[in-house]
Parts: sequence; C-alpha cells; structure tokens
Amino acid sequence: MYTDYPEWCLPLINGEIDEKITNYTQWLGTEGVKKGLISDKPENYIWEEFIIHSLGFSSLIVKNQETKSICDLGTGAGIPGIPIAITNPEKEVFLVDRSKKRIYELERLRIILGIKNFLPILSSAEAFVAENVEKIDIFVSRCFMPGKKIKKEIFVDKKRSKGKVLMVSSNKKEEKETMFHVKHQEILLNNGETRNIDVITLD
Ligand SMILES: C[S@@+](CC[C@H](N)C(=O)[O-])C[C@H]1O[C@@H](n2cnc3c(N)ncnc32)[C@H](O)[C@@H]1O
Repeated sequence: MYTDYPEWCLPLINGEIDEKITNYTQWLGTEGVKKGLISDKPENYIWEEFIIHSLGFSSLIVKNQETKSICDLGTGAGIPGIPIAITNPEKEVFLVDRSKKRIYELERLRIILGIKNFLPILSSAEAFVAENVEKIDIFVSRCFMPGKKIKKEIFVDKKRSKGKVLMVSSNKKEEKETMFHVKHQEILLNNGETRNIDVITLD
C-alpha cells in the first residue's frame, strides 16, 4: 500500500493520525469503490489525489489556530473533509452532500473509524450555507464547483458571508487573473506533480 508522505505533510502526522489515515485509505479502496462512492482507482491514485491533496487543505487550515469549524461542500466520499478531520481532532468538520447514499455510508464510516469530529449532513450546499454560514469558519471543497461559481451561486448573502474563507481545488490558470482576494497555493505530491488550492476570502 502507498503510505509515503511528502515532507510538508510530516508536521500534520503522528502515529495515531497515520493509523486513521491508513484505515480511511483502505476503506476508500474497498468499501468506497464497492458502494460506488469513488470509481475504481489504482492505490497510488487514491493516495496522491485523494489523501495527499486533502492533506494540502489541512496544511493551510492548521496555520489558522482560531478555526473551530470547517465545512466540506460536495464531500462525496469525505474528500477532503475526512483527512482534515483526522489531522485536526480539536476542530468540528461538517461533510455536506445532497446524495443520500453518500451520507449514509459516511455515517457508517464514522462508526467504523471511531472518529467523532466529523458530521455527515444530507443537504444541498446552497441550503446548508444559507442556514449555517455564520457558524462555519472555513469552507473547503474539492472537485465540486469552480470557486467563482461557488462564490456567485452559493454565498449569495454577502453580508453574512463577508470575510469567510473558501478553499477550493483548482486547475484553471485563467481564474488566477480574474478573481480578487485569492491566494493560489501549490500542493506538491510524492510523484513531483503539483495540485492547486485557491484560498478565497469572500468580500
Ligand atoms: C465530483 S464529486 C466530488 C466529491 C469529493 N469532494 C472529491 O473530491 O472526490 C461531487 C459531489 O458533490 C455532490 N453535489 C453535487 N451538487 C451538490 C449540491 N448542490 N449540494 C451538495 N452536494 C452536491 C455530489 O453528490 C457528489 O458527491
């Protein structure tokens, strides 16, 4: 099994966290595939694209000591929300998805992994944000919607969203020039490739 961490991940990992990350990775490759939460992928893809990329979000979040609550919009199989919860045991992570099947499996996984600081929520991202934006410090999302679209279509109540931080996976170079209040962070994978996370402060 692929279990190497790039050097920048090491401050996030201890023995207990490593064991939980390993259990989650195994679950993704077995139950996650069997239940149709992810498509069948090679082990190294699951490790690099799902786990290490998710830890990239974590490495940005841990820098912000004040953060207490995080919400993963369109979480699917818990990516990046579950690795974030595992590496931030003192923070509360809400995993939002509108698919009943995914939320049901994430509730089962919560028991299997014995992790109490993530909470699967069956809701559209639009409804969850409308009702809860004030109690969440950081919103994250991977492969859900482009940051620009999330900003425009989901964070519609400007007054309550102002100053909130949104971390979104991104591949599109053109967004770099057209959005304000965005920091582009590069996440280095073990294979030398990089993935991007846009850190957007809503205005
Ligand atoms: C492509 S998957 C990405 C899953 C995961 N974040 C990842 O990186 O693998 C998109 C997920 O968003 C969910 N989804 C799509 N539109 C949604 C919405 N408006 N509100 C909540 N969840 C939504 C889908 O059910 C699906 O699980």
